[in-house]
Amino acid sequence: MPTQHFLTFFFFLLFSCNTLTSTSSPSFEKEETYDFVRSIDPKLLHLNNQEKLSHFRFFWHDIMSGKNPTSITVVPLPLKLNTTTSFGLVNIIDNPLTLGPKMSSKLVGKAQGLYASASKDEFSLFMAMTFAFIEGKYNGSTITILGRNSALNKVREMPIVGGTGRFRFARGYAQTKTYQYDSQDTTVEYNVYVFYY
Ligand SMILES: *[C@@H]1O[C@H](CO)[C@@H](O)[C@H](O)[C@H]1NC(C)=O
Ligand SMILES: *[C@@H]1O[C@H](CO)[C@@H](O)[C@H](O)[C@H]1NC(C)=O
Repeated sequence: MPTQHFLTFFFFLLFSCNTLTSTSSPSFEKEETYDFVRSIDPKLLHLNNQEKLSHFRFFWHDIMSGKNPTSITVVPLPLKLNTTTSFGLVNIIDNPLTLGPKMSSKLVGKAQGLYASASKDEFSLFMAMTFAFIEGKYNGSTITILGRNSALNKVREMPIVGGTGRFRFARGYAQTKTYQYDSQDTTVEYNVYVFYY
């Protein structure tokens, strides 16, 4: 009788230990897992202010001439394509952004990225560039533009797809007008309308 009791107790202990370890291991694993997504209070990102809308105006200089060009052709016109629209051409840019139309006016940032001639039927560019600002409290903040630029139209419009720093959660659009151009260099006026926090 006592032996049997002891054995029962022993098996009970064994069983409960087993249950204990098997229930404790999932919670141990839980501490080791990483959450892929969670919702957070916007205040934690200092987004408690109202979204604001601002209008920025500056001039974009595409300089292909001289010894220090800011825009270089990295994919020249494919010779086998006989189009009048430069289809296939790709330029990489690090173009100055200035407050006024003259290159000597105040530098407020650079437009870094590329444009590609992406239409076979008309002269139209695909543009992917980031405005890296250096002016005042916007120094270090960026706005990214991605879109179609029908460069021969009087006014063109491209979307803002996002931003960093002061421009986190940016959305909006840029309207552009060619200010002056010759065969190599082009100055374009940018009016940027952007919502941000
Ligand atoms: C290109 O096309 C034009 C008109 O479409 C034609 O006159 C010209 O001969 C063509 N050039 C070549 C190199 O095929
Ligand atoms: C912008 O910020 C950088 C890095 O903090 C600094 O070196 C630079 O002088 C600033 N430029 C202007 C124009 O304030």
